[in-house]
Amino acid sequence: MSLLDSLAGSATPGTLYGIGVGPGDVRLLTLRAVGLVRSVDVVAFFAKRGQQGNARRIVDPLVPADRTELRLEYPVTEELPADGLPYQQQIGAFYRDSQERLAGLLKAGASVGLLAEGDPFFYGSFMHMWRRLAPLFPVEVVPGVTGMSGCWTRAGTPITWGDDTLTVLPGTLPEADLTARLKATDAAVIMKVGRNLAKVRRAVESAGVMSRAVYVERGTMPGERIQPLSQCTDQRGPYFGMVLIPGNGRQI
Ligand SMILES: C[S@@+](CC[C@H](N)C(=O)[O-])C[C@H]1O[C@@H](n2cnc3c(N)ncnc32)[C@H](O)[C@@H]1O
Repeated sequence: MSLLDSLAGSATPGTLYGIGVGPGDVRLLTLRAVGLVRSVDVVAFFAKRGQQGNARRIVDPLVPADRTELRLEYPVTEELPADGLPYQQQIGAFYRDSQERLAGLLKAGASVGLLAEGDPFFYGSFMHMWRRLAPLFPVEVVPGVTGMSGCWTRAGTPITWGDDTLTVLPGTLPEADLTARLKATDAAVIMKVGRNLAKVRRAVESAGVMSRAVYVERGTMPGERIQPLSQCTDQRGPYFGMVLIPGNGRQI
């Protein structure tokens, strides 16, 4: 066994693993994540209808061809408003069904690795499975490089200096809330920009921080795009897009 394999370790039967697979580039997985992706009995992942699944795509070079896979396909993603009853009912039923499928595998003694883009405990669907299954089965969560960390690194923009405060905002917030929170912080990351891009741009402008704002699409992934937000005129962007407002605190 190589030194790297022995450091990475392998999977234990009947255990659920939440595996953070990082922001997009497979080279950014942790050793433990690689060890588990290669050794779990079942590689499970969430995917949008008709698509490969981002987390699954990231680990593609690591998954053995004969590995059992469990694809958990969202019945709905951005088609319905996330705070509406129809979305919540459909997603609630989907999570219950996913939980039962995972529990069935774990009860039968399989080790199951549920992939999570970025870090599993940071705005991740994995958390909905963890909440239901952690009281019932052994669970190990493997942290991952977050999308925002990958994005600010690729953009070459240190995010916080000295005593800067950093605020992470979902772009789904109302425009006035975004503006107020941007005014109240030194540095910010705005996630879930996609269909909210035009609104986010207006909020950044109103908060007076446009000169520092950087737009990153698909950071560390194929098709990566990085530009000052002021130069991005698109009305909406892809799912993987965020805006960075680097802090400009004490620089010695
Ligand atoms: C549901 S959150 C998942 C966050 C993930 N668990 C993490 O640790 O970064 C999805 C949002 O993260 C942001 N995101 C994650 N990875 C990204 C990347 N590589 N490039 C751009 N945005 C990314 C986007 O704003 C996207 O809408």
